[in-house]
Amino acid sequence: MKPKQLKIPFSWKERRPFLSDRVFYVPNYYDRHEEYQFPSWSSSAVFGRTAPIEVEYCAGNGEWIVAKALAHPERDWVAVEIQFERARKIWSKIHNFHLSNLLVVCGEALTFTKHYVQAGTFSASYVNFPDPWPKPKHEKKRLLQEPFLLELARVAQEGSIVTLVTDHAGYVAQIVETLEKLPFWLSCHPSPHYITDYPGYGTSYFDSLWREQGLNVHYIQYKKGGER
Ligand SMILES: C[S@@+](CC[C@H](N)C(=O)[O-])C[C@H]1O[C@@H](n2cnc3c(N)ncnc32)[C@H](O)[C@@H]1O
Repeated sequence: MKPKQLKIPFSWKERRPFLSDRVFYVPNYYDRHEEYQFPSWSSSAVFGRTAPIEVEYCAGNGEWIVAKALAHPERDWVAVEIQFERARKIWSKIHNFHLSNLLVVCGEALTFTKHYVQAGTFSASYVNFPDPWPKPKHEKKRLLQEPFLLELARVAQEGSIVTLVTDHAGYVAQIVETLEKLPFWLSCHPSPHYITDYPGYGTSYFDSLWREQGLNVHYIQYKKGGER
């Protein structure tokens, strides 16, 4: 399967939540999310079994999560990516590698999580190289701020770990400052609350790109652990 073989299954005017062929579409500029009930993860339309579910937000072309889904067939995996051009690359890999344990969500991370994911769903969560929006006037567009991190706490299982990966030192500081203020999330690492070496974590397009340029990669990990 080639990525271009996947077409958006509705016109802009008829856009709606839609699950088909291992892709869940969450439309943008849409306000009727509550009219659609996402099926049970164990239904045949999704994974067709009950297994731990791990999620990667901002999955890009899916290099990292496809490797994880291949290495861990006993777990189910959800790749969330807003850009259709990238989501269809993940869809192509799902078919070419026969990955019945990977679903791609073509949609915005907070919208998908808030409207379609029940509390306590994910046994691990990851965000690898979210867009850093480096200009100060654009910082408000960053995903890893309070509204999303609170939603992530809601859908994470008790005791599960969220791993947030970025090369951008300013974004690291903002993420840690926010997480330290929020109830429910407890740092897995002492201050400064990140590590820069994580053997076996896996790689991605942007991981390789930034490492080739000599940038440091920061791994922030927090555990959902009840109130402080
Ligand atoms: C810098 S790339 C990283 C891609 C991949 N994780 C990697 O490491 O190669 C950031 C990705 O996040 C996606 N993205 C940005 N904001 C998003 C959001 N709010 N919800 C879902 N995906 C988002 C972008 O389309 C882009 O593919």
